[in-house]
Amino acid sequence: MEAAPPSAGEDGLIFEVNGERFEVPEVDPSTTLLEFLRSRTRFKSVKLGCGGCGACVVLLSKYNTELKQVENFTVSSCLTLLCSINGCSITSSEGLGNSKDGFHPIHQRFTGFHASQCGFCTPGMCMSLFSALANAEKTNRPQASPGFSRLTVSEAEKAIAGNLCRCTGYRPIADACKSFAADVDLEDLGINSFWRKGDSKEVKVSKLPFYNPKDHSCSYTEKLEDEYKSTRLLNSQKYSWYSPVTVDELRNLLHSDMVENGKRTKLVVGNTANGYYKETEKYDKYIDLRYIPELSVVKEDNSGIEFGAALSISKVILYLKEKSKVNLRSSGDMVLTKIADHLEKIASGFIRNSASLGGNLIMAQRNYFPSDIATLLLAVGSSVSILTGHKHEKIMMEEFLRRPPLDPKNVLLSVQIPFLEPIRINGTVQTNSRLLFETYRAAPRPLGNALPYLNAAFLADISCNKNGILVNSIQLAFGAYGTKHATRAKKVEEYLTGKILSVGILNEAIKLVKGDVVSEEGTSHAAYRSSLAAGFLFEFLNSFSSVGSAISGGLPENLNGLSLDGAAKSNNESEISQIGGSLLLSSAKQVVESSKDYHPVGAPMPKFGAAIQASGEAVYVDDIPSPPNCLHGAFICSTKPLARVKGITFKSHPQPAEVAAVISVKDIPREGENIGSMAMFGSEPLFADDLARFAGDLIALVVAETQKNANLAAKTAIVDYDTEGLDPPILTVEEAVERSSFFDVPPFLYPQEVGDFSKGMAEADYKILSAEIRLGSQYYFYMETQTALAIPDEDNCMVVYSSIQCPEFAHRVIAKCLGIPEHNVRVLTRRVGGGFGGKALKAMPVAAACALAAHKLRRPVRIYLDRKTDMIIAGGRHPMKITYSVGFKSDGKITALHLDILINAGITTDISPIMPSNMMGAIKKYDWGALSFDVKVCKTNHSSKSAMRAPGEVQGSFITEAIIEHVASFLSMEVDSVRNKNIHTYESLKLFYGSASGEPVEFTLPSIWDKVARSSSFDERITMTKQFNRSNIWRKRGISRVPIVHELYVRPAPGKVGILWDGSIVVEVGGIELGQGLWTKVKQVVAYALSAIHCDGTEDLVEKVRVVQADTLSLVQGGFTAGSTTSESSCEAVRLCCNVLVERLATLKEKLQEEMGSVKWDALILQAHYQNINLAANSFFVPDSSSTKYLNYGAAVSEVEVNILTGETRILRTDIVYDCGQSMNPAVDLGQIEGAFVQGLGFFMLEEYLTNSDGLVVVDGTWNYKIPTIDTIPRQFNVEVLNSGHHQKRVLSSKASGEPPLLLAASVHCATRAAIKEARKQLKSWGAADGTDTVFQLDVPATMPVVKQLCGLDTVEIYLQTLLST
Ligand SMILES: Cc1cc2nc3c(=O)[nH]c(=O)nc-3n(C[C@H](O)[C@H](O)[C@H](O)COP(=O)(O)OP(=O)(O)OC[C@H]3O[C@@H](n4cnc5c(N)ncnc54)[C@H](O)[C@@H]3O)c2cc1C
Ligand code: FES
Ligand code: FES
Repeated sequence: MEAAPPSAGEDGLIFEVNGERFEVPEVDPSTTLLEFLRSRTRFKSVKLGCGGCGACVVLLSKYNTELKQVENFTVSSCLTLLCSINGCSITSSEGLGNSKDGFHPIHQRFTGFHASQCGFCTPGMCMSLFSALANAEKTNRPQASPGFSRLTVSEAEKAIAGNLCRCTGYRPIADACKSFAADVDLEDLGINSFWRKGDSKEVKVSKLPFYNPKDHSCSYTEKLEDEYKSTRLLNSQKYSWYSPVTVDELRNLLHSDMVENGKRTKLVVGNTANGYYKETEKYDKYIDLRYIPELSVVKEDNSGIEFGAALSISKVILYLKEKSKVNLRSSGDMVLTKIADHLEKIASGFIRNSASLGGNLIMAQRNYFPSDIATLLLAVGSSVSILTGHKHEKIMMEEFLRRPPLDPKNVLLSVQIPFLEPIRINGTVQTNSRLLFETYRAAPRPLGNALPYLNAAFLADISCNKNGILVNSIQLAFGAYGTKHATRAKKVEEYLTGKILSVGILNEAIKLVKGDVVSEEGTSHAAYRSSLAAGFLFEFLNSFSSVGSAISGGLPENLNGLSLDGAAKSNNESEISQIGGSLLLSSAKQVVESSKDYHPVGAPMPKFGAAIQASGEAVYVDDIPSPPNCLHGAFICSTKPLARVKGITFKSHPQPAEVAAVISVKDIPREGENIGSMAMFGSEPLFADDLARFAGDLIALVVAETQKNANLAAKTAIVDYDTEGLDPPILTVEEAVERSSFFDVPPFLYPQEVGDFSKGMAEADYKILSAEIRLGSQYYFYMETQTALAIPDEDNCMVVYSSIQCPEFAHRVIAKCLGIPEHNVRVLTRRVGGGFGGKALKAMPVAAACALAAHKLRRPVRIYLDRKTDMIIAGGRHPMKITYSVGFKSDGKITALHLDILINAGITTDISPIMPSNMMGAIKKYDWGALSFDVKVCKTNHSSKSAMRAPGEVQGSFITEAIIEHVASFLSMEVDSVRNKNIHTYESLKLFYGSASGEPVEFTLPSIWDKVARSSSFDERITMTKQFNRSNIWRKRGISRVPIVHELYVRPAPGKVGILWDGSIVVEVGGIELGQGLWTKVKQVVAYALSAIHCDGTEDLVEKVRVVQADTLSLVQGGFTAGSTTSESSCEAVRLCCNVLVERLATLKEKLQEEMGSVKWDALILQAHYQNINLAANSFFVPDSSSTKYLNYGAAVSEVEVNILTGETRILRTDIVYDCGQSMNPAVDLGQIEGAFVQGLGFFMLEEYLTNSDGLVVVDGTWNYKIPTIDTIPRQFNVEVLNSGHHQKRVLSSKASGEPPLLLAASVHCATRAAIKEARKQLKSWGAADGTDTVFQLDVPATMPVVKQLCGLDTVEIYLQTLLST
């Protein structure tokens, strides 16, 4: 008999998860919901990515005792404290549906729309959508037609705005979400497995997995509802969790003996601040503020609205929106609407749902958090009520912010927003007076989930008189620009008050604001932030005074005849910052030409396992339940680039009680070796011995009973360094050159030069000499961080589960490290939550450290790196410095190029010696006439850089475009015509690439180049862009077409196929499923190859195939999953196995056919088993020398729009044509193309990889490392997967898709440069002296500050000056 679940008692912690009741008699109050779900339940769909990524989102249902109804909203389970969900019901993705009870239509549609690749983000995405569907049903909109929800397309897209995905590029996810919307046009949805092109609407609807909101409501049992109809509070003593219900009770608690005795107390509402300020110490008691009515209600009177401080931001938004719906006319309510709109850009829905208004303001007040809310409230003259000791105080927001940081015992009770009305004279509103309000925020992402560089809110009371527009009063608040807290620009306000707006006045105000809004020392992009303040003020004043249009139409000094209605309207539309209209994605076109030659190879089948990924049942390494006695590890990393490590201590000396051991180099067995990773060029040590050689070097592994304790201990470790007598570290490539610190590149890997550079230069009409480009790094940002679990086995063996792209190498490293034979080690990898090259070498030290600790302690040990540590040790893309000299004719034909490249490889070789050849493979994409180069791989005191998707190729391809652009600018030619002049002919291609160029028919680039021009209407859009730029001052557009040639290498791969008694098939391959669809292609190939037996029942053979996890003892020589070609090699390996099996079965099949007329697959296999035919086959595919290398081609056209005031770039449209040969699975390949492009977009436009002066990575999470989100991808994203027909030497005529499309994202960078060029030309036309040269370097990434800097930090002033001087 099963033991009864523990009872929590009358006042114990009770909640439900997916309909199951949990009673938790005791728990550490700092435990998060995620920790509980993942470690104490069977529900593993909540994934840990990083606070703010959305991987952990669940739906929380809660009985609202006021409204007497159940509320449902999403929360991030990684931030929600378990005690705070007492009485709630939690739904996670497996609760919506699963493989046993049937999948939810959300899971089915995510699968059918190909919206899941590695799957790590998918359950969180599904929950965000589910919540949006559930809430749409609560609206009073008309019932949607059967199969659909009341949700709108816009809401569907916004539902996932805060969830990160590193694989898909978002477009398919958006389609899956939109497929539920009542107003969706199914024609707008992309490729899917439900319907065929040309199906009628009715057929399409009938094929979509049916959705009925009533079948899928949120679970909240009546029992729980009954229990919680009246507030039921936790036993505060037992849980150290206090829930006062009155302010007096709260006050008493805060001043109780416990506090006085120095116990640490924490006030808590949503606990989301923990996403930003990671706690390193524990609290003795928590005080939950949500049960005190004063803190949770909204009160309204004639003077304004009072919001309780514990109200969530979402509730505040809802209230403000409802309020302004009631009274649309009032300008005061327009203020409320705008505040609500701005609040919607804070964080993401699942954060806003639990993040409180008060929590935000306290963070702003006490910790100087760059709050948006403080700025908004400051502008509208809000006040706050606070409890300081025994005193209730009501103070203005300004004073609240200015006061010294509030004592932890003080409480923010409520916030009052006044109703605003135009100025009254003798109690009546002046007829001629209007209230205008606008808010601004410049952030890397338009829809939020990114802190702003600066935010602002402006309130003005204006009136019209015969001289123009009079500013009666004005309030200008600015925040988040590197100040302690939001401030009012008082000097500017004073200056503007009482003035009639004119160009001169505006000019003066702008000057003043730049003097007022100044960041504190040490703030990044300080000048940029000040220029934003000027830009926003200009935009605001311009929006109601139309200075711009008035001026361009004749420059009156005073603005006569402007109606206030017009002013208000234009203020509402806020014309300048609205780049290119709506933020919504437009319908995208995907053209896939599938081939039936090798059916089912070529079919766009959904990715194998997508549904279980969506429901969260797919098992990743950290989902494997911890074995009994399991310990957890966290690394202590060096913060110094070169230093002796003298010792480690902890803040709580000698070491925290929870720490079981500290494993370091001293623990490596005598017969073992200090080795952490290895590849073809050498190995890397696991731990620093007595010398740490880069910031991030692993010094030790802290092992504790829980991952949380291990992480906390590692964070509090103090390393004693000594640098005396050591040479200074090498931190730059220049220092490496000075000290001749290089890695060797084996001669066979060093690329070949082409032609005679001196001769080419002699033929040139013009030369550019020694121009320089610098490129930085990029972090992988796989959603699943590095993880491993090591379990000691009998007879000195070690089993290691690792999330790795090359288990075979980890296997060898572990054996060497432990000093045991390789057959004593077994590494298992089932699936990886995103790799992108970062889980090749960099996963090995994690696996090795786990194994070493497990070996030493004789207990299982697991590691799941926190994001910060992962970012510090991951290495990432290679930074480099490039110097080039190029010669060219006056018509743009380049005659010679020389490059000097210094690659910063970091401390060990890793894969760096392949960088020169990878780079040159991409650089050769144009016919340079002659090409010479000197590439040095520099050894520096940085973490070793590793392969990141398209390593070297993406930099190489970019460099070529930068050079082409430089030449075009030099000659004042259209860039596209310079590209045309230098694009390869087949002859020049052969000269540059030799045998890799294949047959002339395989050279598809020229046709792709034309095709993408046609499909994107390139020529027409160039004309339109020019027209746009002529008629817009503050927004400029650019369009660019870019080709790629990518050299690929096919590597050997093993395969193993076995047929079981029931005819089902089990397959093992060397390649790892990273989300790239390798297993799906393998299944298709197995089905195709075995169907050569030609018996009945092979049509659906693909359903019978199961690919199983990589097991290094079962299949040896697995190699690396890298370089985009592992899918095709693995497919070929299993095809060889199948050929053997078909041959073995042929005689039996003939015999049975003769006897029975026809043979069924199942019967054939059963007979084969009885007749002892060997139904298992092994192979090792080794490509022959003539087919190891090949070229792949593609081209993209991108169009962007740049906001000159902020530097924001939006991608309006991208069109890609990409050659996939005969794609094995066009849906999978399309996903790879889109996903790679968006990752490239991150590199070129968004992802700033910053280190401190010691080389220690300082971007350490979603807060400061911005990967693309749904609102930063091309608004229209058209992709054509070209079927270029039969390729004799390619595996079933297919070509790779994983990496090359990433290079195409350079088109966005080039288009941005084109737009900036237009801005600079305009600046020149205004007579500016500096910053107008059309030859300029646009850094990578071209972030907002970078773009703005090039467009001019003082554009507004120059513009106004021009007007004044005309
Ligand atoms: C991913 C993410 C993105 C974000 N983006 C933005 C953004 O773009 N702009 C922006 O402005 N904000 C942003 N935030 C901040 C967010 O608004 C705050 O985290 C949130 O409002 C804090 O509320 P909470 O209830 O979770 O506070 P908690 O985390 O519970 O508390 C925060 C702090 O305030 C104290 N506290 C809470 N309430 C009170 C009270 N009433 N009186 C006294 N002390 C109190 C707590 O003790 C704690 O020290 C973001 C947050 C996250 C996690
Ligand atoms: S894991 Fe919770 S938001 Fe990322
Ligand atoms: S599928 Fe979204 S992160 Fe991999």
